[in-house]
Amino acid sequence: MYSLSWKTMAMAVGLLLLFSSMEVESSLSLPDKIIKLPGQPQVSFQQFSGYVTVDEKNQRALFYYFVEAEIDPASKPLVLWLNGGPGCSSLGVGAFSENGPFRPNGEVLVRNEYSWNKEANMLYLETPIGVGFSYSTDASSYVAVGDKITARDNLLFLQRWFLKFPQYKHRDLFITGESYAGHYVPQLAELMIQFNKKEKLFNLKGVALGNPVLEFTTDFNSRAEYIWSHGLISDSTYRLFTSACNYSRYVSEYYRGSVSPICSRVMNQVTKETSRFVDKYDVTLDVCISSVLSQSQVISPQQVTERIDVCVEDETVNYLNRKDVQGAFHARLVNVNRWTVCSNILDYKLLDLEIPTISIVGSIVKAGIPVLVYSGDQDSVIPLTGSRTLVHGLAKELRLNATAPYRVWFEGKQVGGWTQVYGDILSFATIRGASHEAPFSQPERSLVLFKSFLQGRPLPEAF
Ligand SMILES: *[C@@H]1O[C@H](CO)[C@@H](O)[C@H](O)[C@H]1NC(C)=O
Ligand SMILES: *[C@@H]1O[C@H](CO)[C@@H](O)[C@H](O)[C@H]1NC(C)=O
Repeated sequence: MYSLSWKTMAMAVGLLLLFSSMEVESSLSLPDKIIKLPGQPQVSFQQFSGYVTVDEKNQRALFYYFVEAEIDPASKPLVLWLNGGPGCSSLGVGAFSENGPFRPNGEVLVRNEYSWNKEANMLYLETPIGVGFSYSTDASSYVAVGDKITARDNLLFLQRWFLKFPQYKHRDLFITGESYAGHYVPQLAELMIQFNKKEKLFNLKGVALGNPVLEFTTDFNSRAEYIWSHGLISDSTYRLFTSACNYSRYVSEYYRGSVSPICSRVMNQVTKETSRFVDKYDVTLDVCISSVLSQSQVISPQQVTERIDVCVEDETVNYLNRKDVQGAFHARLVNVNRWTVCSNILDYKLLDLEIPTISIVGSIVKAGIPVLVYSGDQDSVIPLTGSRTLVHGLAKELRLNATAPYRVWFEGKQVGGWTQVYGDILSFATIRGASHEAPFSQPERSLVLFKSFLQGRPLPEAF
């Protein structure tokens, strides 16, 4: 059971007036050590957070939150987690709503029993600049940010983060993420593979992508059938949404600032029927969770204006805007007054959305690195059907035969979802009953999937 509303907390620790902004060239990660987060229960693992400068000239710095594994961190891999948007925070969404060790609840932080730091050392990065606590002192640099700069900054971030944490330098490394991280993660992995040809630095062992944008026409146009088959739109509206104007065309027009009358008409009809009281990120979930809802507002543009804030009290937003919390995190607000779930100062190159990354996924597989694409199966924003088509198509292109047939997998005595594996290296899996933010709505099943992925083992075939 999970709770839909986490209450925030208050409790002052406010220690740590160390030089967190100094980039330490040696193994001295101590200034970044978190003594204790306000309201946090006693835990045995260590936490760190702070900044890594990625561009001295323009004073660009990325903020990270690092949670070591609960048990024996030295034996466990390093996992980077990235949320999407573009422009949403891996700290607020990933760490505090999905797979991190705590969730804000009233005045305190409560433990997440299914935290991914049970299996790995988890590194949450707020990227690109302008997201969360990450910043550039030159506000004009928020304009030119797109996929290219983001990937380059992320790569540089990791290189320099290893200077702070040299013990993790040669550790097995996995990159994971969700939604628009379907761009960030493959693009970063590709740079790592290139970098490794000159100097073997990144011990990249696998990539996992949750409800990712991989090829925007396939991903977006699978929405029509998904919402139609789940009863959210009528037969006649479905016909319009697949013939008169499909979703990828609407989004294309929208980001070019010229929505055609026909697309406008179709989208109005679709929006009217689906209703704003249904969570597009989980068509069976009651509406709430404003921070989670907003994660992919950019890839769902028609929802921006009609978004309603059912949960006015956003626990994470309240928590991360507390001065004592920011102090404990060694975080600063630069060029903004408040920490927000998704950036409103970043002016991302949104047309980068149209760049397909499925071919990059192909080159990662060809380089011998396992890739898992997984889908929360209640998500209508990036539905499982589009992802499954893309993975299947890629397997075909790479001539990878199915090494495990399409079958169910188990968590406990219940079906956790379905899975298929190609060439023992490319996998697809659904998480049954999960939303766009799968670890949020199905934490237990998500942890089983995560563990299998890290161990390179098949998902449980029986119970
Ligand atoms: C979506 O619309 C575009 C433009 O009209 C068209 O080229 C494309 O084939 C359509 N895709 C689907 C899946 O209907
Ligand atoms: C894949 O399956 C086809 C058809 O069964 C077979 O001819 C081919 O050798 C297989 N390829 C690999 C790499 O196993």
